[in-house]
Amino acid sequence: MATSFKGISLIFISILAALIAAQFIAPNSAYPRYLIDDLISVVTLSPIASKLIPFEIGSSCCRRRHHHHNRHDDNKQKVSICDSFRHDLVPPATNATSVFCVDHNGCCNFTTVQAAVDAVETLSQKRNIIWINQGIYFEKVMVPKTKQNITFQGQGFESTAIVYNDNANSSHGTFYSGSVQVFSNNFIAKNISFMNVAPMPGPGVVGAQAVAMRISGDQAAFWGCGFFGAQDTLHDDRGRHYFKECFIQGSIDFIFGNGKSLYESFSDEDSGFSFVNCTIGGTGRIWLGRAWRPFSRVVYAFTSMTDIIAPEGWNDLNDPTRDQSIFYGEYKCSGAGANATMRVPYAQILNDTQAASFLNTSFINADIWLQPL
Ligand SMILES: *[C@@H]1O[C@H](CO)[C@@H](O)[C@H](O)[C@H]1NC(C)=O
Ligand SMILES: *[C@@H]1O[C@H](CO)[C@@H](O)[C@H](O)[C@H]1NC(C)=O
Ligand SMILES: *[C@@H]1O[C@H](CO)[C@@H](O)[C@H](O)[C@H]1NC(C)=O
Ligand SMILES: *[C@@H]1O[C@H](CO)[C@@H](O)[C@H](O)[C@H]1NC(C)=O
Ligand SMILES: *[C@@H]1O[C@H](CO)[C@@H](O)[C@H](O)[C@H]1NC(C)=O
Ligand SMILES: *[C@@H]1O[C@H](CO)[C@@H](O)[C@H](O)[C@H]1NC(C)=O
Ligand SMILES: *[C@@H]1O[C@H](CO)[C@@H](O)[C@H](O)[C@H]1NC(C)=O
Ligand SMILES: *[C@@H]1O[C@H](CO)[C@@H](O)[C@H](O)[C@H]1NC(C)=O
Ligand SMILES: *[C@@H]1O[C@H](CO)[C@@H](O)[C@H](O)[C@H]1NC(C)=O
Repeated sequence: MATSFKGISLIFISILAALIAAQFIAPNSAYPRYLIDDLISVVTLSPIASKLIPFEIGSSCCRRRHHHHNRHDDNKQKVSICDSFRHDLVPPATNATSVFCVDHNGCCNFTTVQAAVDAVETLSQKRNIIWINQGIYFEKVMVPKTKQNITFQGQGFESTAIVYNDNANSSHGTFYSGSVQVFSNNFIAKNISFMNVAPMPGPGVVGAQAVAMRISGDQAAFWGCGFFGAQDTLHDDRGRHYFKECFIQGSIDFIFGNGKSLYESFSDEDSGFSFVNCTIGGTGRIWLGRAWRPFSRVVYAFTSMTDIIAPEGWNDLNDPTRDQSIFYGEYKCSGAGANATMRVPYAQILNDTQAASFLNTSFINADIWLQPL
């Protein structure tokens, strides 16, 4: 979908910064501050990351976690960061589920998400819940095809995030730049954010595309998740996907790919993105879709749009031969951006019959796979 004109959207970054600042950095927050130090100690600060982390890089970084005893009264019991670890939040394993607990402070089994993924049984028929405590996990995570039926359960998309900073250059291609890449089927994520904090592409810069999440498995569901990046944030690669109450941020081509998503692709013709009951806002200008392929199919229904949407709405990448085969539809949208007066001729304002198949989870055949919350 949404594609922006180049060079916009610093505001996106400041929103990101504000969000993260509020959740991770507020000095009075209950959240341990060395979390941030840990992040700084591993990240080569990009302009985005330095906005995320507005205070100076502490030289005492990284050792603080081992110095939690009270200097004024060494007789007092040592205070461990794990004293406040909420074991009761971690769901118990059952016959049908395995549970893998991740806490970056080391308060449970795994300190990285990747280590937990690696521990999941190959071709498991159980649901494998990777329970991830709040915090920033600065790591590149890959879920291979054999590690199926995995759930990433975070503690809220504003407080739990997997963050990395590869871009197309550093990873030898946009497709490999994802902070998190999922190749297995039946993946679920709940209440967690995926971020790519590589530097924003400057005008005309090539190789700066930086994917936050690549979802390449079939039958994936995202509930209450955040996707943060600039160019190419969400690579909805292939398979049938469901996004419910998620937040997606980006600039150029920030959702792209060949998935069949309610928000399959066994062929180009049977792919498409459907956005129902969504809200689109921000600054700058975006298109609702740009036709990278001749069979691009995108529908927005019941979606509220601000004037961020370019009046022409859609873009065929200057290839009018695509206008016959692309399917770009709008249905009962609202807001200044939904004014269709100036739309390109191939944009379709759908009638009830045309819209019907895009409006519910039948679009992604979810009746046969989507598990209710
Ligand atoms: C779980 O498996 C055990 C051993 O196979 C069995 O005794 C128990 O009844 C099962 N529990 C449930 C809830 O299915
Ligand atoms: C997690 O740690 C507990 C206690 O140390 C252990 O019993 C359990 O097997 C571990 N679970 C995994 C999935 O490694
Ligand atoms: C596990 O994955 C397989 C293959 O994708 C799927 O058929 C099965 O329904 C999944 N089981 C669970 C519990 O999600
Ligand atoms: C996500 O977090 C919210 C607020 O913390 C909670 O109410 C909700 O049940 C959570 N949902 C999931 C799917 O974890
Ligand atoms: C990517 O590499 C090309 C060629 O080396 C270079 O011109 C470009 O500036 C690089 N882009 C980024 C974002 O590093
Ligand atoms: C829609 O846009 C046209 C052309 O810009 C304008 O004349 C018209 O007043 C707009 N309609 C609404 C309802 O805002
Ligand atoms: C909806 O549009 C299609 C395609 O233009 C047309 O064939 C159909 O008759 C229309 N249906 C209604 C109810 O207007
Ligand atoms: C989705 O809408 C279609 C067309 O209106 C309808 O046939 C189908 O039963 C609906 N599916 C669900 C899951 O509501
Ligand atoms: C969209 O919102 C309407 C009204 O709140 C609701 O009836 C419908 O189920 C929603 N559709 C989806 C796909 O969430």
